[in-house]
Amino acid sequence: MKPDVRLQLDARSAHQASVPCAVRVRGIRKIFDELEAIRDVSLDVANGEFISLLGPSGCGKSTLLMMIAGLEFPTSGEVTLADTPVTGPRRDVGVVFQNPVLLPWRSVLDNVLFPIELLRLPVEEYRARAMELLRMVKLQEFAGALPRQLSGGMRQRASICRALIHDPAILLMDEPFSALDAITRDDMAVELLRIWQATRKTVIFVTHSIREAAFLSDRVLTMGRRPATIVDEIHIDLPRPRNIAMTEEDSFNRYVRHLRKSIEASHEG
Ligand SMILES: Nc1ncnc2c1ncn2[C@@H]1O[C@H](COP(=O)(O)OP(=O)(O)OP(=O)(O)O)[C@@H](O)[C@H]1O
Ligand SMILES: [Mg+2]
Repeated sequence: MKPDVRLQLDARSAHQASVPCAVRVRGIRKIFDELEAIRDVSLDVANGEFISLLGPSGCGKSTLLMMIAGLEFPTSGEVTLADTPVTGPRRDVGVVFQNPVLLPWRSVLDNVLFPIELLRLPVEEYRARAMELLRMVKLQEFAGALPRQLSGGMRQRASICRALIHDPAILLMDEPFSALDAITRDDMAVELLRIWQATRKTVIFVTHSIREAAFLSDRVLTMGRRPATIVDEIHIDLPRPRNIAMTEEDSFNRYVRHLRKSIEASHEG
């Protein structure tokens, strides 16, 4: 890393020390039977920050995200959200899973509304919001369709609406755009940034795409091979709001190159 970038990083870290923390992960370790999936991962995510986790397949990204979501538990270490230890799934968290698990017998609209039922909130009051979210991802015409009538990418878009329906403060997204074609993927990235900027959610975004991580994030954390540790952290100091044209610029491509090198180094290690 060049010295000037390091300086910026230190200045930002000092600033963020005073910003309230939305997500705090401390010394997490996860062992499945004999397999050590995660070793000593710590990270802080500030309120309203957008971070991405980049790392090779099988390194433990989904496992880490599920521990933050309260759907998986660490062998040791602690996760706190808004200063409260995570003991199970919570209302202030929305999750977009790597596989968009939709209930096959329910319409797209009723799948989007499912968390509202689980949270025992008045479903009727959320119907208009659900339709608005479906419109945002261009699925309004499929509100009454069953999941099997949708393509993989459409199902993934429906699952993004489901994660947003109860307006969670923290959004955890596990490779949400991996099933989308390149153009829709760019559109969704821009749309996600628009939602994030309008609602100031805290986002943790898992992706294999270096370009996507650099485009979306305030900060990208690179994870090494299993057992997962965080091997690099870089702040993306590109202006906001961001648009796809920015990905053609040198300033953007410098970040992409840095991240690629960091990933290559972790593969060799
Ligand atoms: N429930 C489980 N039981 C046993 N092993 C598991 C379980 N979940 C994950 N693992 C193991 O933990 C490791 C990390 O898995 P994880 O799904 O977190 O990886 P990932 O980084 O999300 O990979 P990908 O990029 O392919 O989605 C893998 O070796 C996997 O086999
Ligand atoms: Mg995964």
